[in-house]
Amino acid sequence: MRIISTADELRQHLSKEASIAFVPTMGNLHEGHLKLVSIARAQGQCVVVSIFVNPLQFGPSEDFDKYPRTLEADCAQLQGLADVVFAPSVAEMYPAHQTVFVEPPAIANELEGATRPGHFRGMATVVLKLLHIVQPQAAVFGKKDYQQLHIIRKLVAELNLPVNIIGCETVRDEDGLALSSRNQYLSPVERSEALFLYQTLLGVRQAILKGEKNLEHLQQQAVEALAARGWKVDYVAVRRQSDLQPTGLADRELVILAAAKLGETRLIDNVELSL
Ligand code: PAF
Repeated sequence: MRIISTADELRQHLSKEASIAFVPTMGNLHEGHLKLVSIARAQGQCVVVSIFVNPLQFGPSEDFDKYPRTLEADCAQLQGLADVVFAPSVAEMYPAHQTVFVEPPAIANELEGATRPGHFRGMATVVLKLLHIVQPQAAVFGKKDYQQLHIIRKLVAELNLPVNIIGCETVRDEDGLALSSRNQYLSPVERSEALFLYQTLLGVRQAILKGEKNLEHLQQQAVEALAARGWKVDYVAVRRQSDLQPTGLADRELVILAAAKLGETRLIDNVELSL
C-alpha cells in the first residue's frame, strides 16, 4: 500500500491503472469506513482511500481543531484492503486561498444545512476536487450521511462527472448505534443514551408502517421524546428519498432523518422506509 500526499504524485501513480475505486474519508477510520473500502474493492482494480479533514466543511464553532487525526492507525487498518492512501495537507488541497466553490442545490440549506450553514458547500467543493484528482470510475459513500450522499449524487449528475456513486448501508454497533468518529466523544453514560436516537427513528418508522398519517405530529412527538431525555434536537424529519423534500405520504420511498446533540456531541442518523 502506497501513502501519497501530493496530487501530482498521486496522478502519476494512478496513470496506468485500468480502473480505480475511491473512498473519500476524513480518517479516524472505523468498521463503517472499512465496509466502504470492501465495497470499493469489488468495483475497481485499484482502491484509493483519501484521508483529509476538510476545513471548508466545518463552521467556526465546530470541531475542526479537535477532530481526531489518526493517520498512522488509519493506514494500519487499511493495510491489505486499500492500494493507495491519499493523505494531503491543507496546503496541498488549498495552495491558494480557495475562491472557487461548488454551489450545492437548495436542499443543502435544510436539515443539516440549517444548523451547519456552508457545510455542504465545503463538502461538495472538496469532493469535486478529490474526484478530479483521483479520477475514479466508482466512489463509495455511507448512507449515514444521507443528505451528503444525495448532494453528491446531484453534483455528479448535474456536472456530468464520469463516476458511479455507490451508497453503502450504515454500519451499526451491536446495540444499533450508527458508527461515527464522533461517538468517541461520548461519555459512558452518553454512549448508552446515544442509542435512543436510532430507537426514536425506528419508533417513527413503526408508527408510519402501522398507518399513522399525521407526520407533523409524529415528528413533533419524536422531538419532544428526545428533548425530555436531555437531547438538544436540531430536527427529526420524514422526507421522500428521491429529493429529500417533505412528503405527504403519497410517496412510497421515505427516509426519516434526525440530528441532535447529546452533551457536546452532535449525532445524526436516519432510517429508510418503503410503504
Ligand atoms: O463524509 C465525510 O467523511 C466527508 O464529508 C467527505 C465526504 C470525506 C468530504 O470531506
